[in-house]
Amino acid sequence: MSTADDQPITLLEGLATTRAIRRYTDAEIPDADLATILWHAGRAPSGSNRQPFRFVVLRTGDRAVRAKALLGEAFRAGWNAKRHGDGYRPSAFADSMQRYVDRFEQTPVVVLACLERYRGASPYEGASVYPACQNLLLAARAFGYGGALTMWHLGVEDELRALLDIPVDVALSACITLGVPEGRHGPLKRKPVDEIVFDDAWGQRATWI
Ligand SMILES: Cc1cc2nc3c(=O)[nH]c(=O)nc-3n(C[C@H](O)[C@H](O)[C@H](O)COP(=O)(O)O)c2cc1C
Repeated sequence: MSTADDQPITLLEGLATTRAIRRYTDAEIPDADLATILWHAGRAPSGSNRQPFRFVVLRTGDRAVRAKALLGEAFRAGWNAKRHGDGYRPSAFADSMQRYVDRFEQTPVVVLACLERYRGASPYEGASVYPACQNLLLAARAFGYGGALTMWHLGVEDELRALLDIPVDVALSACITLGVPEGRHGPLKRKPVDEIVFDDAWGQRATWI
């Protein structure tokens, strides 16, 4: 497998460099690439291997376009509330978020990652769907695409259920946007590993790191 610029990346490079990409060109993702990305998403683990994850792909179909319009409103409201609620100052990040939500309807591919419940809602159910979401994002990265996992679809959950025939016993676990990245995206910013690992007991530094 190789990236869009034909530079193959290793699994570890993919893990180290996959970040939220919110700026996309208008280019579509070919069916074959999307199918392969979703195949890899479906290789993820889940409790008892029940594989409860389901993916509703929204592109250019009639209902997809209407769902993207609903989502666009929800994303703009979500970012607006976060921008003001969390006191974001003007910055390149705030600009890119604004652009992301303003252009939401043009997002080439939107995937609603769902979870088909086989019993009532459980606090741990996300553990059976989010690994698949991360597989999806990593597989997209392997092809040179970028994506972002988001939660702002929850603002229009009821409307999406009605529009897309999503049953009540199915959780709408995430909304993932995908496309060909536009411009350059910097490196990941993450805490140093020795801040997030303890050895032997909570709070004990792992001196071997
Ligand atoms: C559980 C979860 C919820 C997220 N929700 C949103 C969201 O609603 N909107 C959004 O733009 N990004 C969302 N993100 C993406 C994160 O903001 C992003 O992964 C994080 O800031 C790290 O940024 P980076 O991947 O660019 O380094 C979410 C990520 C996770 C894992």
